[in-house]
Amino acid sequence: GAPTNFFCTTQEDIQQLLKPRRKFSHKGMYGHALLLCGGYGKMGAAVLAARACLRSGVGLLTVQVPQAGYSILQTAVPEAMTLTDKNRRHLSELPQGVEKYDVIGVGPGIGTERVTKTAIGQLLATSSHPLVIDADAINLIAASEKLKAQLYKKKLIFTPHPKEFERLVGKVKNDYDRLQHLREFCMEYKCYVALKGSHTAIGTPEGKVYFNTTGNPGMATGGTGDVLTGIITALVGQQYTLEEACRLGVYVHGLAADLALQTVGEIAMTASDVIDHLPRAFLHLT
Ligand code: APR
Ligand code: MG
Repeated sequence: GAPTNFFCTTQEDIQQLLKPRRKFSHKGMYGHALLLCGGYGKMGAAVLAARACLRSGVGLLTVQVPQAGYSILQTAVPEAMTLTDKNRRHLSELPQGVEKYDVIGVGPGIGTERVTKTAIGQLLATSSHPLVIDADAINLIAASEKLKAQLYKKKLIFTPHPKEFERLVGKVKNDYDRLQHLREFCMEYKCYVALKGSHTAIGTPEGKVYFNTTGNPGMATGGTGDVLTGIITALVGQQYTLEEACRLGVYVHGLAADLALQTVGEIAMTASDVIDHLPRAFLHLT
């Protein structure tokens, strides 16, 4: 038959991707991730992304938050090392020694202040890290031709919801048009995009699209996207390829929510419930 660009990710695919931890391994082998998340009134986004990252196997996690978020992060996520921005309320700078991290996840809760846009510009200009770019980091990039011009020749994963995606690529006419834009964007910037929705579609630089098969409407609640950012960041830190990290991350995120159906159901489900079911989801796959 004619070659197709569209694929479905099955549980067997995912089980084959998942790498067991080796007996003599140590935390240095599972990556040191940096999350640049949270802002005044949205520190929960950083907490959710950080907790999800830690529940997804990362070796070490550092989170940088605005000053106002210091005690919130330290209290809510004791496993994470916390750095503070010089700014009280917003992301405005990169941490010292940013080179040492294996992966950086950025966006949830950061807002779209001018100082934050400058920091995102610095991140794109200075770092050669793989980046997981979500939420307001996407919005800032989408609104700036200068930032967009910096996207080439980098290792990037974007995790937009449909509105963020339209800010990035322009208005789409229908579902098929959305997928064509997805393929074109990924091929243009040689990047990965997890376009979120009830069937999240993952675009690759080769123009392939993988549809996810897990997840449920219980996930339609604030914060579940921040959880996905943390999961994918952790997986990139563990040396999964960007494609593997996207497919595995999106799958396990939806699977955790599917397992949460049994205990909390669709209506009461929160983003924290998704995190709480990540252990069972990973166990389910091994
Ligand atoms: N079926 C399956 N999965 C779903 C469904 C559904 N009906 N609805 C939502 N999801 C999943 C999506 O696939 C995605 O992984 O839930 C997640 C929602 O992510 P976001 O849309 O990014 O929502 P979230 O980030 O939690 O929202 C908080 O952050 O991105 C900003 O501006 C955005 O106001 C939003 C805020
Ligand atoms: Mg979101």
